[in-house]
Amino acid sequence: MVKPIWIMHASQLVTLAHESPGPRVKEAMSELAIIKDGSIWIENGIIQAIGTTNELQTNYADRIEEAEIVDASGHLVTPGLVDPHTHLAFGGSREREFEMRLEGATYMDIMNAGGGIHATTRMTREATEDELVEQTTKRLNSFLAHGVTTVEGKSGYGLDLETELKQLRVMKRLQAEHPIDIVPTFMGAHAVPTEYKGREDEYVDLIINEMLPIVASEKLALFNDVFCEVGVFTPEQSERILEAGKLHGLTPKIHADEIEPYQGAELAAKVGAISAEHLLKASDVGIKAMAEQGVIACLLPATALYLRETAAKGRAMIDAGVPVAISTDCNPGSSPTTSMPLVMNLACISMRLTPAESLCAATYNAACAIQMEDKVGSLEVGKQADVILWNVNNYQELQYLFGVNHVKYVWKKGVQVVG
Ligand code: NIG
Ligand code: FE
Repeated sequence: MVKPIWIMHASQLVTLAHESPGPRVKEAMSELAIIKDGSIWIENGIIQAIGTTNELQTNYADRIEEAEIVDASGHLVTPGLVDPHTHLAFGGSREREFEMRLEGATYMDIMNAGGGIHATTRMTREATEDELVEQTTKRLNSFLAHGVTTVEGKSGYGLDLETELKQLRVMKRLQAEHPIDIVPTFMGAHAVPTEYKGREDEYVDLIINEMLPIVASEKLALFNDVFCEVGVFTPEQSERILEAGKLHGLTPKIHADEIEPYQGAELAAKVGAISAEHLLKASDVGIKAMAEQGVIACLLPATALYLRETAAKGRAMIDAGVPVAISTDCNPGSSPTTSMPLVMNLACISMRLTPAESLCAATYNAACAIQMEDKVGSLEVGKQADVILWNVNNYQELQYLFGVNHVKYVWKKGVQVVG
């Protein structure tokens, strides 16, 4: 029998518990439902009780001998972080492009010259499934070490049926083998592969007629994502791909208005996307449409920093009533990081989210962006015991002491996996 775990005396136990369902907007993003001198009782991987240490002492007095006790005095305890946007399973590395951008090349120059996403596509096609599993495992271990217990992962470095399926199967294998929960997204529309240059619509047809049906019938993805960008997929092509995915039961997501304004936010609202990503150049009309439709803005401040771009208008989006989530965008080109704590810091510094909003965006709202909020993203009775104990005293300190990994212990489904 696995012992129950009793985490007690947390200086701040941030639960993010809330009565109403769905992603949080405006003031609700700051309601962290903090318990001082907090306690959690974990059994069978699930949170069985949560409250003040006094309350749990009353209710569990007769079982104290059974439990493994963790004294969290002086420590912040939060839900496991959720990363709702990663390009997790890829081959190779692109450090030379980092230098090229510093020398003056733009992200799109490099991509149009056959580098960027195309370079990673070549390396991912060449890698065996086992090699991808090995490389992706290292990334997942790093996520876990930074307090991330659930990630979304996109395909999109295959751009042919065989390799797209290979990436999705790698994630399926790792969902079974690795403690982190992986939520898969099909992104065959990440770029037009070089062999389809000049025949872009034929590649769109291939996605719609061949890739989507197989991905859906093999249940390899829950979401369908498109890079809607000048020189990649037009809004019209993106809409066709996202509508086709819906017919197969895949929920739309969209890389929108990253490099240039392209009506991506408007399209996300029109097709009923669960989330729109990046949004650096989103229009005010698009932001308003997202707020009206409840489309989650998944903002990626590490990507903006890495490409030396001005970050998305996170503050204005929250004030306009858009539910905001944040993510690493972990990928080999525009954001090679696995640090959600850094992303939380940057959300405050470059987008003027408050520390409370930033934490909500990295936990509960992030879980909503991948439809996982019934299981993860907050600490509530009946949810998975995905819990982080941090080497800081309160959530403000977590965001204030930046660029440092403050994780002390991580429990995933009640099993201690870090520390
Ligand atoms: O979200 N913008 C498009 N896709 C990724 C980058 C992928 C890459 O450069 O390999 C992103 O930033
Ligand atoms: Fe991305």
